[in-house]
Parts: sequence; C-alpha cells; structure tokens
Amino acid sequence: MKKDRITTTTTKAAETIKTDLLVYFAVEAKGKMPACDVAVEPQVKKAFELKDFSGKAAEQILFYPPPGSNISALRVLVLGTGPVNKEKETGTALDMLREAGGEVAKVCASVKAKDVAVCLPTSKHLSPAISDPELSAGALAEGIILGDYRFEKYKESTKKKTDYPGLGAIEFVCKEDPDIVCQGIEKAKNSAFAACTARDMANEPGNHWTSADFAAYAKQLAADTGLGYRCLEKKEMEQMGMGGILAVNQGSYVPARMVVLEYLPENRTETILLVGKGLTFDSGGISIKPSEGMQEMKYDMCGGAAVMCAMHAVALEKPDVGVVAIVPATDNMPGSRAIHPGDIITHYNGVTSEVINTDAEGRLILADALAWGIETFKPTCVLDAATLTGAVIIGLGHHYTGLVSNNDALVKAVEAAGNLAGEPVWRLPLNKNYEKQIESKVADIKNTGGKPAGTITAAAYLSNFVGKTPWAHLDIAGTAWDFTKKAYIPKGPSGTATRTFINLVRNWKTGKVK
Ligand code: BES
Ligand code: MN
Ligand code: ZN
Repeated sequence: MKKDRITTTTTKAAETIKTDLLVYFAVEAKGKMPACDVAVEPQVKKAFELKDFSGKAAEQILFYPPPGSNISALRVLVLGTGPVNKEKETGTALDMLREAGGEVAKVCASVKAKDVAVCLPTSKHLSPAISDPELSAGALAEGIILGDYRFEKYKESTKKKTDYPGLGAIEFVCKEDPDIVCQGIEKAKNSAFAACTARDMANEPGNHWTSADFAAYAKQLAADTGLGYRCLEKKEMEQMGMGGILAVNQGSYVPARMVVLEYLPENRTETILLVGKGLTFDSGGISIKPSEGMQEMKYDMCGGAAVMCAMHAVALEKPDVGVVAIVPATDNMPGSRAIHPGDIITHYNGVTSEVINTDAEGRLILADALAWGIETFKPTCVLDAATLTGAVIIGLGHHYTGLVSNNDALVKAVEAAGNLAGEPVWRLPLNKNYEKQIESKVADIKNTGGKPAGTITAAAYLSNFVGKTPWAHLDIAGTAWDFTKKAYIPKGPSGTATRTFINLVRNWKTGKVK
C-alpha cells in the first residue's frame, strides 16, 4: 500500500496544471451529446458526431495537446461515467463515479502516469441523488485510490515486477464548494486507505501474516493514532475459559491471540463493537479441506482485517460514538494436538459445543470474542464480519454480503452504509427452525447444521453468544475476494466491509438502534 501518495484539491484553472494526465468526465445523456466541461466540448462533440463516444461508462477519448496549446498537461482524458444524471438511487450513482475513478487509475497505469489532475464534474451534470459534492468527489477519489492498488511486495526479480509503482500524486480540480469537496476527499483518503491496507493484510500469505502480525499491526496503529490497544495472550485466554479459540488453535504452533483496538472518547453515549474473523489460514484442521484451492484460505482473515483497518479511519475522524474492534486470531491446522471431530468444548460464556466438523472453526473463535466483547464493553450494538461459509457463495454469489441480524433498525443502518460504499448486503432470516438444526445430543449446541441453509445455521450458532444485544453478522465469504467485477476492485482481496463499517460509524445516530 502506497503511503506517500499526495492527494490535494485545487481551484486553479485546469488548463494551467502541468501533469502527466488531465482528466475530464462526460456524463452519458441517452442519445444526446454527453454533458461535460466546456474545455473539452469541441472534442466530445466531434467524437459524439462520429459515433465514437457517447459517455458510456469507461468510454474514453485520449488526446495529446499540441505544442502551443493552452493546455499544460501531457495528455488529456475524457472518460465516460455512464448516465449518473439519471440514477435515482444514491448508492448506485455513487458507485458509477467510484468505477469511473477506477477507470482513471487503469488509464494512469497504461500510460504510466506519475501524477494525475482530475476535474470534478459539476453538480449540474449529476443527478440530485449525488449532487452533494462531498459524496460525489469522495466517490471519485475513493475509486482512484482503490483502483490504484497493487501488491508487489514479494516480486523480487525486476523482470517479474511491473515498472509502474502507481500514482505519486492526485490533484482534484474543483469549480464549486472547495471546502466541502476537500472534506469529501479527506474522508475518501481515510476510507480508501483503510480498505487498501485490509487488502494488503489479506494478500500476505499464511506464513507472513499470523496472529502475531495482527497484534503487532494493532499495537503500532495504537501508538501512531492514540487508540487503546490490548491483546489477550494464550495464557490469559486459558485462564478466562475461551474454549473456542483455544480449541481451533490446538493444532497450531503459533499461539492464538485476541487483539483489541479501542476508541472510547470520554463523552460518548454509545459504543459500537466490531468483531472480525482473523483466521490467518484455514486448512480445515482434521476435517481437512481438499487441496485444490486451499491456498485461498489465507484470505480467511479478511473480516479481522476489515475491522482493524476501519479503526484507523475512526482514529483519524474521531466520531462521538465509541468504537471497539476485536480480532480473534489463529490459524486452523491439523496436528497431533488438534481438536478431533466429536470433541466437546466450553465457550467463554459457558455454552458447550460439540465440534462435528473442525472446518466450521470461524464460529468457534467468534463465539468467544462476541461473548467477551459484549460483557467487557457493554456495546449499544455489535457487528461481526467473517468469511464464514461457502454456502453464502451458493446463495448470493459474489455480489452480496450475507447479513443475519436480530434487529431491524441495525439492518437498515448496515444496508445504508453498505449501499453508500458499493458493498451491498442481503438479509437472510433467522428463527427457531434454524436454531433446531444445531441442537446436539450431547452438548448445548453443535457446530454444524448440515447442508441446508449453512449460512443461517452458522449465524444461529453465533446468536448463542450475543444475548439481547442488537447484532448484525456479515458473511463476507463471497465478497472478501472474487468480488463482483468493478473497475476499482483488482483481482484478489477486495477489502470489503472496511468502508461499510466506516460509513456506519460516520452516519451513526444515537438512539436509533435499541
Ligand atoms: N473459511 C471457511 C468458509 C469459506 C469457504 C470461505 C469458501 C470462503 C470460501 C469456513 O471456515 C468453512 O470452512 N466453512 C465450512 C463450514 C461447514 C464445514 C459447516 C464450509 O462453508 O464449508
Ligand atoms: Mn473452515
Ligand atoms: Zn474458515
């Protein structure tokens, strides 16, 4: 993740800016000349008349100002956004802008631009749904930063390395509301940076990202930002009776850790608890997974990455509401000390569980984290994000995060936050019928409920550890990687849920969720 990229906002005339690439947007207008800045109207008009360009999403005009031109940039790009003037739904329209930002990053990579200047579309070209310049500028900026992501840390040979390190500077040129635009771009920097860092953590392989790395990262973040940090080590968890995370950790030689980041302002009236599955490699344990595709299970910590990285934005933005993130972190390995199928364990809150399948391990580590976190921080609500079930991919594909909750108001808030982020969620039901599926003959519950409704029975398991606290469970197994193809999401981990959580905190209203 590039930390040294400079992002600025300016009100000076775009033509005067010396840059590798100057970008204008053109908004599709159904059969009519696309709406764009007067500076590029002649080119757009000509291209439109030739039927080369109509402003459709990702359509491009790239030209090179000749010597003597009043434009100082080396190249000029006019990029189609699609019909964002028609979209009535804020989330959809914002995501079109975010995708346009992603396309900008792609063009920058193809011409190896070191810097770019981006002329923000004016409100008259956008639909009322996104005429808020903070949101529209923010979405574009997020799209560029998220689209400029690359992970080449382990490419040593210069032959294998691409010779483009990504953008060094992004300058946003705005004609209206510079102060509000600046705010939008500051927020976009925070959220996009957080999501890119979550992608970095996920890209790290199982041998380079363990529970110790989660702890070290959190400790450093706390030192840098003033967040509170603590980490429950294996010994403490043994004394505390956290039988779930310890059971999963039995086959591993890296001790499990429960990593905590706290943002608890003194005048807070409410606290949001975020819990993320930090399973740094999921082999399945004794119920071992097939070897084909097993390498992808290094991504099984994406929920943990999302909550931890969201805390960075929280630390910078200092909301009124308190926010705490907990990452139960371990890998899931077979070995002579590993748990056996059939073993019975006791969770932190005393609930006993029969481990039918050691590969249903995520719920075991989340259970202790949820029970302990709720007891310790007494939050207004709790949200968890976890790559929990393959079943969610069967149900929703890679397009929606699965959502299970015991609270309608919280569902509304999560849906809104997800839509604003371009990370939609879809709620699934939970009731007694599903809870029945995980009844055990020998313990309080068992850790699998059979094939039917695998995502819901996993949530039913977790529901035993949240009590009456408003709770939302996000199953991100389908969206944490291989997410819906979008210009700002590269192949590999998406960083999903990070920006949803940041939006949720930003838009939190006291008293809404009870
Ligand atoms: N981490 C996996 C879930 C997963 C599967 C994520 C595929 C992404 C892609 C989880 O720990 C798991 O193994 N779940 C099992 C549960 C089953 C044994 C009840 C699954 O979904 O198969
Ligand atoms: Mn598993
Ligand atoms: Zn797993």
